[in-house]
Amino acid sequence: MVSAPETVRAAFRKHFPDGGAVEIFRAPGRVNLIGEHTDYNMGFVLPMAIDLCCLAAIAPANHGKLRVYSQNVQALQEWPIESISDARPAGNWGDYVLGVAQQLARAGFPVGAADLAIYSTVPVGSGLSSSASLEVSTALALLGGRTIAKKDLALLCQRAEREFVGVPSGIMDQYASVHGERGKALRIDCRSVSHQAVALPDGAAIMVVNSMVKHELGGSAYRDRVRECAEAVEELRRWSPKVHSLRDVISTDLAPLSGVPLKRARHVTTEGERVESFTAAAEIGDLKGMGDLLVASHRSLQHDYEVSCEELDFLVDTALGIEGVYGARMTGGGFGGCTVNLVAIENVENFEIRISSAYEIAYGKIPQVFRFLPDAGAEQVL
Ligand code: GLA
Repeated sequence: MVSAPETVRAAFRKHFPDGGAVEIFRAPGRVNLIGEHTDYNMGFVLPMAIDLCCLAAIAPANHGKLRVYSQNVQALQEWPIESISDARPAGNWGDYVLGVAQQLARAGFPVGAADLAIYSTVPVGSGLSSSASLEVSTALALLGGRTIAKKDLALLCQRAEREFVGVPSGIMDQYASVHGERGKALRIDCRSVSHQAVALPDGAAIMVVNSMVKHELGGSAYRDRVRECAEAVEELRRWSPKVHSLRDVISTDLAPLSGVPLKRARHVTTEGERVESFTAAAEIGDLKGMGDLLVASHRSLQHDYEVSCEELDFLVDTALGIEGVYGARMTGGGFGGCTVNLVAIENVENFEIRISSAYEIAYGKIPQVFRFLPDAGAEQVL
């Protein structure tokens, strides 16, 4: 089998035959174990980097342009270097590259003429951070050895997504891609933008099941949730001026709210509490406790935050009936994408067979099933 770095190098050579010696950078995707829709509320999340990644092969050039070939999309885009600082988004994959280049320039790292080939093994739209891994690998490639603090790199890539691509996302995905640690999940405090590494107990595997659906609603609903949380904060601030985000309240402080703001705030606050409990359970190897928290998270996302969908609910409910499954929930933004499942090691194969066949019978699609081990963060590979 051809390795991913070989694939991106071959793509570079084919599309930029006159290009110079390449350097290759890799940035991983992530799976979020628990702490969903808490990052833009300044709360806690617990993702881990995975061994699916985006690779960026780069060589400086003297044609005055930034040229980018995507092996996944099989398309080339290019921009004159002098146009990057005032470029506007075009609404396609090139925006991630251009947005990062623009943010680098604004941060004092001007981008020179270069040829860049990218290749990702992270399935797009699956909730495993294909966007962040593209941003982070591109940023490292365009930095070309200039150093930047890891936290600043994550924040810069988040700005590319928020300000250029136009998705008001939190910091989780870019942070996890930059800071991933082999063998550890990351409990990230999204207010201080810092983390603590969390070892996961032996005896259970992190199994991820891709529903292979992405409902259109996803993009607009994400914006709606961000807005609804801001509205809940506004209401709470009328009662206490000290509330600046939902991080500043706990689930028993929500009496002033009702209706939709109450449901959204109840999810965010209880989810933050679940991250703390899950971390504590992981530290003492309490797999049952961890599993129960995953299920509670899913129910909260399903009923209070309303970002699940029929296929994800089916995958979770089916998983909970399979031997050796401690818990399951949707992961990522929602409305499709993946579930994350905590499965006893000895039941992993059976889980894979049972969940795949049940889903295929119900929806006529074969889901991708992955077993992920926590992987290292972004780095140069060549
Ligand atoms: C998307 C966003 C993240 C986060 C999750 C939900 O993945 O990019 O910042 O908000 O949704 O937890």
